[in-house]
Amino acid sequence: MKLDDKALKEKYDHFMLKEILEQPAVLRDTIDDRIRPGVGGKSIDLGEMNLDAEWLAQVHNIYIAACGTSYHAGLVGKYAIEGLTGIHVEVDLASEFRYRNPLLGDKTLVVVISQSGETADTLEAMRMAKEKGARILAVVNVEDSTIPQEAHHVLYTRAGVEVAVASTKAYVTQLAAMYLIAGYFAQQLNTIPRGEIDAIASALKEIPEKTEEAMGLSWSMRGLAPSLASKSSCFYTGRCLDYPVAMEGSLKLKEITYIHATPYAAGELKHGTLALIEEGVPVVAVATQEHVYDRMYGNLQELIDRGAYTIGVTCEGNNALGEIVDRAVHVPKTLLSPIVSVIPLQFLAYYTAVEKGTNIDKPRNLTKSVRHE
Ligand code: M6R
Repeated sequence: MKLDDKALKEKYDHFMLKEILEQPAVLRDTIDDRIRPGVGGKSIDLGEMNLDAEWLAQVHNIYIAACGTSYHAGLVGKYAIEGLTGIHVEVDLASEFRYRNPLLGDKTLVVVISQSGETADTLEAMRMAKEKGARILAVVNVEDSTIPQEAHHVLYTRAGVEVAVASTKAYVTQLAAMYLIAGYFAQQLNTIPRGEIDAIASALKEIPEKTEEAMGLSWSMRGLAPSLASKSSCFYTGRCLDYPVAMEGSLKLKEITYIHATPYAAGELKHGTLALIEEGVPVVAVATQEHVYDRMYGNLQELIDRGAYTIGVTCEGNNALGEIVDRAVHVPKTLLSPIVSVIPLQFLAYYTAVEKGTNIDKPRNLTKSVRHE
């Protein structure tokens, strides 16, 4: 390790841990001055994007294109934008988007998400969409990187420099950006009542505090790590908004522990994957979506009946999950659940990697910015 790396890491053993713990602060930086007090409640100010309401009102459809963790942020973005604006949103892996024939035109908005602003597939997907007449909104962390220079509109996340290859703090700021954009579009288009804009803006304002509370889960996740480290494979599951969180949690685990970890939408388990469940197979279940609690419990019971070792992540106040799963952890309640529910999963991956002694900040075969196809 270089001396300056050591200094930058301060007291932490790894950049990844430092970056997980920085999440409340970077969320505050990303959100705070974009929420304004207004008549009838708080409002969202993204005037910096220069996306005029008149053009927005004509938008037929929105595509979100990104890779890896940024793609998972896009999946949450679809829920937020569709839910608040009623505009149809499709989310694509940038590496697929650029080679298919998406329906693009001058009434299409393409949102590209990239921490580095340099990912080759995302950049080429953006160029292709731009050439076909679509407008591009780039959500990027690194200022003056290539993607924002070529996009029509830009929203910067403010996660600061992320050193660990496994993205954590950049990811939660991308999620915050998705909710900011969804709320801002809804506000510009008047698609939801004023009170709902205030509710989203207030939830965004409070989210740094909620993530601070979630940091307290570090110890319980650390306790689960030794047994997970001895396994060769693991599953993650969830429904609706919890499914992208399960995808992100499983990516974190495989990236830094090299344990095979696959995410499944809970309702899909019985369509094949259940065959892989036997005594002691770990399953991490994210269950923060109240309207599908009962369906999740049913899915979990099927896993438990086949011997799975289940770890559940749910919201404070939901004690029912704890009665079903082997270990339950509770995250603070918020409208923006993906931002808090991913935190225990980041800790679980991190401490499992510590147990395994892998190269956490620079996992084998991976680089921070994938500039080549
Ligand atoms: O810089 P980008 O956000 O465009 O990078 C995309 C992916 O390469 C990246 O998110 C990758 O999946 C992370 N290492 C995951 O932790």
